[in-house]
Amino acid sequence: MKEPQRVDQAVSDLEHQGYCILEGALSAEFCVRIRADIERLRDSGLFAQARIGKAASHQTNLEIRRDETYWLNEGAPSPVQKELLETVERYREGFNRHFFSGLWELEGHFGIYSPGAFYLPHLDQFQNDSRRTVSVVAFFNPDWKVGEGGFLRLHLPERKIDVLPNEGTLVFFFSDRILHEVTETHRERLSFAGWFLQRPR
Ligand code: OGA
Ligand code: MN
Repeated sequence: MKEPQRVDQAVSDLEHQGYCILEGALSAEFCVRIRADIERLRDSGLFAQARIGKAASHQTNLEIRRDETYWLNEGAPSPVQKELLETVERYREGFNRHFFSGLWELEGHFGIYSPGAFYLPHLDQFQNDSRRTVSVVAFFNPDWKVGEGGFLRLHLPERKIDVLPNEGTLVFFFSDRILHEVTETHRERLSFAGWFLQRPR
């Protein structure tokens, strides 16, 4: 499937089921460069213990999540980060054409989950701030095995879906509706998690 078809698929899946899983949406060659970029940021000490909540309630809570993050809007984006943001941007345009007119900004971070790390079930939209509308997650580890854990588990009303965090897979879902978690990983796990923000009304 070519990218324009994947964008159409994402729009239609989001509309009908509230989430979309696209395997092979990022090339292996691109994922090699993303992994090198993440290594570089980590070696420069730019990853920090992830936090939960925002503003006054912003806190680290190791019982809830144990990943380390680097926020992409913090520094000038590297060429490969720009490419990732541009790819995600093409999906945003698809969503905007079909249902939202006001999805504008993207905020997001790389996440490193070391062996033993997890993120308990949560919704991405904050209780007192409804701007996060659509979540996007991308995976960068080659050749992920089921036994390595670290699934992105979507909790749907009728069933659970375990997404393998395999390189090139892109996942979109509604930030206020889809409860999800990262199950304990047994291998170092690299991801990008981002949110399309809606203009406050
Ligand atoms: C998040 C999140 C999923 C992942 O950061 O909110 O759900 O697979 N991340 O990194
Ligand atoms: Mn999340």
